[in-house]
Amino acid sequence: MSEMETQRLACDASGVRTAADILCKGGLVAFPTETVYGLGADARNGKAVARIYAAKGRPAFNPLIVHVCSLAAARRYGVFDADMMRLADQFWPGPLSLVVPLAADHGLSPLVTAGLDTVALRVPEHPLAQTLLTEFDGPVAAPSANPSGQISPTKADHVIAGLAGRINAVIDGGACRVGLESTIVSGAPPALLRPGGVAQEDIEALTGPLARAGTGITAPGQLNSHYAPRAALRLHARTAHSGELLLGFGSVSGDLNLSPTGDLIEAAANLFGHLHMLDAQDRPIAVARIPDTGLGRAINDRLERAAAPR
Ligand code: TXA
Ligand code: MG
Repeated sequence: MSEMETQRLACDASGVRTAADILCKGGLVAFPTETVYGLGADARNGKAVARIYAAKGRPAFNPLIVHVCSLAAARRYGVFDADMMRLADQFWPGPLSLVVPLAADHGLSPLVTAGLDTVALRVPEHPLAQTLLTEFDGPVAAPSANPSGQISPTKADHVIAGLAGRINAVIDGGACRVGLESTIVSGAPPALLRPGGVAQEDIEALTGPLARAGTGITAPGQLNSHYAPRAALRLHARTAHSGELLLGFGSVSGDLNLSPTGDLIEAAANLFGHLHMLDAQDRPIAVARIPDTGLGRAINDRLERAAAPR
């Protein structure tokens, strides 16, 4: 991806205003939370979310945590049962992420949830994260602000060292208090997906024993519930065979095209939405060849999983 100048913003009202402005325009801003620095983008903007994956060099689309300023805001995007409400009341704001079913009319980009019908939501406690989320007044997708495979950043300097030239700005809020990622819990029945900043015992005091998540949830792309279309998927297609729908890319136009101009960021932003639209027609889907560079690797990773025998 092309290099850009990365601004270091002060931890004050004007820094937050600049950061919120960048988010509104679909840019990327790293910001401190009490756990680690997050790399934020507008969670409703598919292209902005695709830029997160490009900046991190993630080889796969792992679903991202959506950050909001309050439980009331979270309920616009997710449906909370009694257990999840109890956990949110007790631990938010704080280092806990809750995976809940998507609400109707949530408006989030399907790239944020990697096409799943659940979403991970978190209300961070860090005052600067709170101010930014309030000022932006929308959902912010944010994985840790480090290149894929490297250590999570707990200082603005770590972010600069890893991502300078690849993101628009970082707000310098000093060192993170917790220093390791949030605990992730999913509901019905409550299960621990990732240990983190809130102790398992403290969660179990409210929910009773947590179920064991047998999924390698922390390894990118290892979710066993990854989205796959109902119909068969055929890759590297030039044209549709009889009965197939064609998902195009670049000059291979089809029933839908991921990016007529061959832009991989645009293609990533469209991937899950286009697959859902074609899948609704219940016919086999052929997909044009996607170059295996940059975000194309993540797109191909996901397409290969969707095409694998099951
Ligand atoms: O402390 C944190 O949680 C930091 C700060 C920035 O908030 N964020 C963070 O995000 O660690 P990330 O993207 O590195 O971790 C997201 C984790 C992934 O392991 C992903 O698989 C899981 O959350 N996840 C997200 N949405 C999910 C979903 N719908 N179902 C299951 N797991 C989900
Ligand atoms: Mg991470």
